[in-house]
Amino acid sequence: TRVDKAGHKHFMAKEIAEQPGVIGQALSHYLSDAGDILLPDAGIDFTQIDRITMVACGTASYACLTAKYWFEQIARIPVEVDVASEFRYREPPIPARTLAVFVSQSGETADTLAALRYCEGRAQTILSVVNVPESSIARESDLALPIYAGIEVGVASTKAFTCQLTVLFLLALKAAHQRGVLTDEALADHVSALRGLPSVINAALEKNNEIRDAAQKLSHAQDVLFLGRGRMFPMAHEAALKLKEISYIHAEAYASGELKHGPIALIDENMPVVVLAPHDTLFDKTVSNMQEVMARQGKVILISDSDGLADASEGVWATIEMPRISEALGPILYAIPAQLLAYHTAVAKGTDVDQPRNLAKSVTVE
Ligand code: G6P
Repeated sequence: TRVDKAGHKHFMAKEIAEQPGVIGQALSHYLSDAGDILLPDAGIDFTQIDRITMVACGTASYACLTAKYWFEQIARIPVEVDVASEFRYREPPIPARTLAVFVSQSGETADTLAALRYCEGRAQTILSVVNVPESSIARESDLALPIYAGIEVGVASTKAFTCQLTVLFLLALKAAHQRGVLTDEALADHVSALRGLPSVINAALEKNNEIRDAAQKLSHAQDVLFLGRGRMFPMAHEAALKLKEISYIHAEAYASGELKHGPIALIDENMPVVVLAPHDTLFDKTVSNMQEVMARQGKVILISDSDGLADASEGVWATIEMPRISEALGPILYAIPAQLLAYHTAVAKGTDVDQPRNLAKSVTVE
């Protein structure tokens, strides 16, 4: 199949813009009209699973880290997440009744495939979440869940990431429902929020100019810190990864609460701090960390919703307003400003957005 940029300057811009559509596609494959979650084949019996091990590389590993919050909080299943290159050499013991989940856009990443093979033959159910259904990882799994993102050309993953998140969220809901820890009614609420996700993401994409202005400011920085708490912590990682991959600005992610255990020593007027903080149950905690940054002349870019910005935008350097969303789905939405911030910073710096130096789309060697 030939893919072109469809009028966009870069594949990455096109792929960011495609997200409402492809997430809608993924939802239509996994949700019945009645709101039941459909898995291929026999699916998985989550009542027989005591824990989940999730393994991936790069952006896909942050999808796993996000899913850990969903599986633990909604489905009450303990989850371990590891990057494949560590997992495969760690010789981890794997108790019975563990589900091993491998997430990979390409389905060909060498370390992820090796980690999968480590789990094979250790009496586990092997599930993969992939974009390429005929890939090695998909073929070697007991059950492969396609994410329906379509071909992704930009080296920095965008639409595959949000589609991975969508499928993993559906899986967590399925698990929670099967295990009897999510009522029919609560499931229906999550499903209806999910059905609204494409239009909420569209609304986030409309903040493009606001995000471009903030990126203009970031483009002069040498180092950037991203802070998030709870479900926004993996998103802080993903935002930092995107920025370093394509703009070559050094970026680090920290759990907001860890700020005082080290990185606060770095804060001055030269290191912008991007805070991801929807107005949820953890908002006040994150804002108090943000104020510690501002008290030290740190320049803050606050990404939040209207309530959050009304509460806490005084004195910040820039704001980016996101639509409101259910607490559980926050990470999928906040992936959008993370991607656009990196994209516009790279464009402002004139770097090669789609083919960043030294990086490959799919790493099939160790
Ligand atoms: C490379 C790509 C990343 C990707 C990672 C994992 O590093 O540049 O964008 O997240 O590989 O790839 P996978 O295909 O396994 O998701």
